[in-house]
Amino acid sequence: MTEAALIGMGAMGSALARALLHSGHRVTVWNRTSAKAEPLARDGAVVAPSAAAAVSASPVVVVCVDNYEVTKTILGAKEVAPALAGRLLVQLSTGNPQEARDGEAWARERKADYLDGAILAYPSDIGTPAATILVSGAEPGFRKSEPLLRNLAGNLTYLGEQVGAASALDCATLSYLTAGIVGFLHGALICQSEGLRVDDFGSMLAEVTPVIGAELKHLGEVVQSGAYEQPQAALLAYAGAVERLVGQARDAGINAELPAFASGLFRRAMAAGHAKEEVAALIKVLRGSALREARLGGTE
Ligand SMILES: NC(=O)c1ccc[n+]([C@@H]2O[C@H](COP(=O)([O-])OP(=O)(O)OC[C@H]3O[C@@H](n4cnc5c(N)ncnc54)[C@H](OP(=O)(O)O)[C@@H]3O)[C@@H](O)[C@H]2O)c1
Repeated sequence: MTEAALIGMGAMGSALARALLHSGHRVTVWNRTSAKAEPLARDGAVVAPSAAAAVSASPVVVVCVDNYEVTKTILGAKEVAPALAGRLLVQLSTGNPQEARDGEAWARERKADYLDGAILAYPSDIGTPAATILVSGAEPGFRKSEPLLRNLAGNLTYLGEQVGAASALDCATLSYLTAGIVGFLHGALICQSEGLRVDDFGSMLAEVTPVIGAELKHLGEVVQSGAYEQPQAALLAYAGAVERLVGQARDAGINAELPAFASGLFRRAMAAGHAKEEVAALIKVLRGSALREARLGGTE
């Protein structure tokens, strides 16, 4: 018996296995393409000849494969599924909240405990303070796996028993990053239109990251409390800034899709009477359009 079985020796699964091995844990690994599992033997892993053998070897089974469907394909196979009973399945493949709920139900049907996780890190960060792993699900499962999981990420956060919480926060973070990447690249176009270096722009933003972080924290508090009155800077001021972006794009002849999109949201917020509220009041427009889209079957 080993302490943990790891299923999936891709870039991330291999990093997870190595971090556990380097912190002194006994680990069994399995991968569909066995050549990717074999290098782990040099680090001290037991390489299982089959998924069923890997699952049978440990009380905790950590899965990190492409997605939840792949997980079910591997663990739902008739020679593997019976071995799950009485074990803890820790799902570290990326998914969404509904998949987490389905995964928990699926594990329970097979008499296994379940913990859902989201990795917010690159493989090279695993096992270091730079790695964040969010987990959610029934607390006994977290307590059982915590001594292992603490070795994977300096920032291991247990979000409680709501099993979809980890992947929900992962999706929410992805939303922020998506908009941030597009925003950064539009900023890069602005820099280039004025002959400025984009790497300097990136460095400058890295310097002001704590200020941006404080603003995001404030936005979160405003939306959570619903206290949109008495803003430090009103939505009106941000709307003016967005119109400056529209004008700059026009003058410089650069792509204007991002400013045009943001301008549309701010104009609707102003028209709806939110000009003197906190900029976070923009969420009222997003909520409203979501409702309208639902009524119109996905189109506005
Ligand atoms: N890499 C990152 O930076 C990162 C960051 C955060 C989260 N994650 C998440 O971690 C998970 C794994 O990512 P990765 O980077 O390790 O991907 P990867 O290197 O492409 O590895 C994918 C893994 O899934 C396995 N797999 C795929 N289809 C399969 C099937 N039908 N049957 C059996 N095994 C199958 C692969 O096995 P084979 O080797 O046999 O193909 C391999 O072990 C993903 O959910 C990803 O979103 C990754």
